[in-house]
Amino acid sequence: MKIIKNISEITQIVSDLHKNKKQINLIPTMGNIHAGHLSLLTEAKKFDGTNIVSIFINPAQFNEENDFTNYPKTFDIDVDILAKANCEIIFAPSIKEIYPRGANSKKTVFKYRDILCDISRSGHFDGVTTIVKILFDLIKPSRVFFGEKDFQQLKIIEQLIIQNNLKINLIKCPSIRDLNGMSYSSRYSTFSQNQRLQFDECAKIINSKLINLKKNLNREILQSIEDELKSSGISNIDYCEVRSEENLKISKLNEKSRLFIAFYLSKIRVIDNFILY
Ligand code: PAF
Repeated sequence: MKIIKNISEITQIVSDLHKNKKQINLIPTMGNIHAGHLSLLTEAKKFDGTNIVSIFINPAQFNEENDFTNYPKTFDIDVDILAKANCEIIFAPSIKEIYPRGANSKKTVFKYRDILCDISRSGHFDGVTTIVKILFDLIKPSRVFFGEKDFQQLKIIEQLIIQNNLKINLIKCPSIRDLNGMSYSSRYSTFSQNQRLQFDECAKIINSKLINLKKNLNREILQSIEDELKSSGISNIDYCEVRSEENLKISKLNEKSRLFIAFYLSKIRVIDNFILY
């Protein structure tokens, strides 16, 4: 497995691969590799081409400096895990390499905005589209793999590809869930034992409502999720809404809809979504 840190080196590798008519599959990550990321690599291996996992903790997508500082940084462990998973190339540039003039982002995607995470994380998606476009330009992949856990991100990346007429196939991969029913996230690796117990309690509350929500999509069930999460000690709930997968508009029917939820457990942001059909 090659670990590439420079733009000049990755550019050379990409050019050689293309000269040899090899396709590239890109799996963008911010490291702290878990089962969710590995499922993206497993999916990538089903296709032709060389698999590149990028590891870059993108400062431009954190709206609070503390959040960036506290984000788990586990590069050496990530390298071991990815080597065991037979990843071919890791691209792990420094911040200076990617943003020589400072980590600035630009708003280029306007669809799927002003809802869900975009309300409380102002500028976050501009940071995401900025780095993903930089990675697309450098790595020129044929396919890119994203998890459905960050569903709004996935829709925004889909729009980024459409707007820029990119010939990149976006492969949407289902969430990989822990035993408690919640999708894996790098952020949860910093839970204390008590936070983990509280998280399991939240998971139980949410999962216990899904059957009813699937049968009968009504506002009272959503309210009861919020109320029970609050009773379990969650004071900051960003949203608990049912939206259409197609357009992310609020749904009245569960057909092709998902429950979208985001809340804070202490300072750690939990986001997830659940298929309701
Ligand atoms: O989902 C993530 O880990 C990040 O938002 C991404 C897509 C790697 C961009 O930094």
